[in-house]
Amino acid sequence: MTLHHYEKRAEVKFEDLYTNSISQIQLPKNELPEKISDPQVIRQLVCDELFMDGNSRQNLATFCTTYIENEVRDLMDLSIDKNMIDKDEYPQTAEIERRCVSILANLWHSPEKEDTIGCSTTGSSEAAMLGGLALKWQWRKRREAQGKSTNNPNFVCGPVQICWHKFARYFDVEIREVPITSDQLGIRSDQLKDYCDENTIGVVATLGSTFTGIYEPVQELAKALEVIQNETGWDIPIHVDGASGAFIAPFIQRNLIWDFSIPRVKSINASGHKYGMAPLGVGWVIWRTVADLPKELIFNVDYLGGQIPTFALNFSRPAGQIIAQYYNFLRLGREGYTAIQNDCASTAHYLGKQLAKIDSLELLYDGYGGIPAVCYALKDENTTGFSLYDLSDRLRMHGWQIASYPLPSNRQTIIVQRIIIRHGVSRDMVFLLLRDLRKELEHLKNNPVMNSTNKVSFHH
Ligand SMILES: Cc1ncc(COP(=O)(O)O)c(C=O)c1O
Repeated sequence: MTLHHYEKRAEVKFEDLYTNSISQIQLPKNELPEKISDPQVIRQLVCDELFMDGNSRQNLATFCTTYIENEVRDLMDLSIDKNMIDKDEYPQTAEIERRCVSILANLWHSPEKEDTIGCSTTGSSEAAMLGGLALKWQWRKRREAQGKSTNNPNFVCGPVQICWHKFARYFDVEIREVPITSDQLGIRSDQLKDYCDENTIGVVATLGSTFTGIYEPVQELAKALEVIQNETGWDIPIHVDGASGAFIAPFIQRNLIWDFSIPRVKSINASGHKYGMAPLGVGWVIWRTVADLPKELIFNVDYLGGQIPTFALNFSRPAGQIIAQYYNFLRLGREGYTAIQNDCASTAHYLGKQLAKIDSLELLYDGYGGIPAVCYALKDENTTGFSLYDLSDRLRMHGWQIASYPLPSNRQTIIVQRIIIRHGVSRDMVFLLLRDLRKELEHLKNNPVMNSTNKVSFHH
């Protein structure tokens, strides 16, 4: 380099994202900064902070989509500015939502197929609230027609996801969560008669228990409710919480009868962002027929020059997830969903078989018959010298996030771990997980934990 060139270069101010002044200070944590900043620098610093999060692909506690195709990213990007509630402004997005509702109504055997009613939501929680509300209103109308009291409604269920406890509290409905005894993981049909009464707005059956992954027996529950109706006259409907299972059973458990083919099933919710494989932020609730959703719950809103019928807890919502859901329906079809769910199930079976060979573990759910997952406990927690919480902590050092938590009542003393196999959890990842899990179990056996933790590290 000539002297001339060297001098010229020394005059140029060196520029780099990390030499920018805001990169030299702690980022503001509680107050807005006074000054505007360079977008690239801020983007990089925010990205850097996100490294502290766990790696979502190794999060085996979640049911939600963590593997996303580039085409989905493109569609999400294209629709980032679309509000799905503006149906008048974005009629084609509204049409796409309508098509998704029809596709699901067909998949779940609604007798009204293309014409029944349903909607997208932000997830299964909102969908469950809407399903629960419809049950409450239908019950109230029946009671009013009979000139009977509409006080003290209740619903009956097995171990349910937290959204149903929220529904109970927010909408003032008593939850009767049937406790599980030592030989069961979900509600049994013979338990219904002790919990249902004339104020029961519905029975919620879970297809894919959050706690263990098992399916509750919807057909058996419907039969038991038939008997109850014949004996008492109470016509108690079923809502199926198919957050995960409603996107699995139609493809890989095709002989299972659980959906609208059972007349008593009046509504079904599912998470598009779980086994529907859409990106986070979409759920679905579909009613068996139009008549099953009380008209009074539908708002016709005058908005931006149009009449919008809405039934939702939120108003504005991003449209991208719905568009991506439709993309998945078209891209995968029955063939693709079946292939992916089958692969997940066989990986879960493989994992279950390997875990069954580990002495210290007792398998509660081996991946057969429910969603692609496994659930297990320590055989004898009192003698192992460590808890599953300790195992979760050790596995976290390898990046794996595996939830430990107590079973619901009456089995809260049993701490379990659940591993979810979803699209993108490959057989090879499971090999690596098993390698780490065996190693850490060995470590804990040889190094018992003095103050073994019994913390609640995971909330449903
Ligand atoms: C059975 C069940 N219902 C409802 C939900 C809530 O779903 P979301 O997270 O889509 O709101 C979950 C979530 O795990 C679930 O497993």
